[in-house]
Amino acid sequence: MPLEFSKDLVIYIKAGYPILNILSSEEDRVLERVDEIRRDTTLWKEGRELFVWTISRGWLTPEGQPAAKEDSRDPAQALAFVRNHERRALFLFKDFHPYLDEKSPNASLVIRLVRDLAPHLAATGKTMIWISPVLKIPAELEKDVIVLDMPLPTEAEYRAVLERFIERYGSSTKVVFNLAEEGKDLMVKACQGLTKCEAENALAKAIVGRGRLDVEDVRSILEEKEQIIRKSGILEFWGAVQDFGVVGGLANLKTWLKQRNQGFSQRARDFGLPYPRGVLLVGVPGCGKSLCAKAVAAEWKKPLLKFDLGRVFGPYVGDSEERMRKALSTAEGVAPAILWIDELEKGLAGASGGGGDGGVASRVFGNLLTWMEEKKKPVFVVATANDISRLPPELLRKGRMDAIFFVDLPSPTERAEILMIHLARRGRDPNEFDLPALVRVTDGFNGAELEEVVVGALYEAFTDKEGQAEPRLASRHLLKAASELVPLSRTRQREIGILREWAAKNCRAAARAPDATESERQASESLVEKQARLLDLG
Ligand SMILES: Nc1ncnc2c1ncn2[C@@H]1O[C@H](COP(=O)(O)OP(=O)(O)OP(=O)(O)O)[C@@H](O)[C@H]1O
Ligand SMILES: [Mg+2]
Repeated sequence: MPLEFSKDLVIYIKAGYPILNILSSEEDRVLERVDEIRRDTTLWKEGRELFVWTISRGWLTPEGQPAAKEDSRDPAQALAFVRNHERRALFLFKDFHPYLDEKSPNASLVIRLVRDLAPHLAATGKTMIWISPVLKIPAELEKDVIVLDMPLPTEAEYRAVLERFIERYGSSTKVVFNLAEEGKDLMVKACQGLTKCEAENALAKAIVGRGRLDVEDVRSILEEKEQIIRKSGILEFWGAVQDFGVVGGLANLKTWLKQRNQGFSQRARDFGLPYPRGVLLVGVPGCGKSLCAKAVAAEWKKPLLKFDLGRVFGPYVGDSEERMRKALSTAEGVAPAILWIDELEKGLAGASGGGGDGGVASRVFGNLLTWMEEKKKPVFVVATANDISRLPPELLRKGRMDAIFFVDLPSPTERAEILMIHLARRGRDPNEFDLPALVRVTDGFNGAELEEVVVGALYEAFTDKEGQAEPRLASRHLLKAASELVPLSRTRQREIGILREWAAKNCRAAARAPDATESERQASESLVEKQARLLDLG
């Protein structure tokens, strides 16, 4: 990735783009990279000089010596230096963005100066490079500025950070290092998704805390990482522990997901397969969409990042694009990972409304779509939605998701399975209950309601003094709990009908078709499924 980044950088510089805005909070890494490419004699016939500007010191050489004869700290003076310089060069600005902000008193002057300078730069082999942690390009300059994301460090860079620590503290008697190659690998993997500075801090904290660095610290680095990611306020780390074993029914979806999991391997790369992109789960509420998203992560043993779209379009207008970029680049940093976007249509409510925010929301959503299509890192998106009328049609276009599944109300066999799962989870043996009767009275119940039946029945049994000295769950409690519950599907028949009609045209069914052949069934059937099927559900 950084290689690609360097390549892009060189292409833009050679092509005479006047201004490149590099988004990153890691100025040192950007500077290192720029310095590296401008020195690379294989890239240029005549090389490029490099100057670095800060508001506190004005123009400096890469070695930190003053580069301008006059004071160049003022932005207008800094731009004059660029104009007057007579050779091809790269001018790297740290923190230039505040002077372009409309709240800055001289913004209109600075913007005008930049606009006048841009054509001159293109013609003279000079390039301005702005480094900023946030994206703030005034509309007047949008045509002149190319925005580039500085990717997070590569494995090799994290490894270098780790080696530097070992080198620095290795001889100290106060710190014990006990890391074989394998331990180093784990540690480097744990750092993925952090900036270089964050990785350094996480390692330093681990060393200071215990006076040693060994494999046990991998966990503390992961915890530190969770903290940092949580602080971003948009992505949330989810400890996913329950795999497909807790999901009843939805056999087609489960089989499909198991198959896609193979797509992450090196063998799949060698075979020419692209990484799996993502899946959209549409369906009736309470039937296990969110549950599946969580289970995928546990089943695939990959970190689960919950992406709260609502917070991207949060209250601070103008920062949304920035937050979207940051979230996606963090997810890529943690890759391979699952990015879970729950209730997508709600998060996008701002995007389709277009209400008074200058189209920012739809632009941000556009960024998400483009990313879905172009991402090269193995970030698998699991998006869920209930309300199809609010789903933007662009999302359904081929190339963004690998598949769209419809999660319908559970069939009788699936209801048996779900009931069995929830009974077993509460320490009960499902074989002790009259499941066929229960399945008959729960027609139209969704998974959440079936779970509620089990919980309600447990309450019922707990307070039922009849007969036994000890409370004991019996079929009658389950049947009573079921009879007292009015399923959502009864009150929302019309909506569900519309949803099904739409799904028949646009989605695959998550559940196995009732007419699946015996061999199709056996190919993927789990023990619970089999038990459920063998029950006489007449
Ligand atoms: N297929 C299922 N197997 C087992 N449990 C289920 C299933 N479907 C739902 N449940 C139970 O119901 C709970 C709620 O389901 P979940 O949140 O996954 O539904 P959802 O489809 O995401 O609903 P919504 O559209 O309202 O978000 C789950 O945590 C689980 O306990
Ligand atoms: Mg849900």
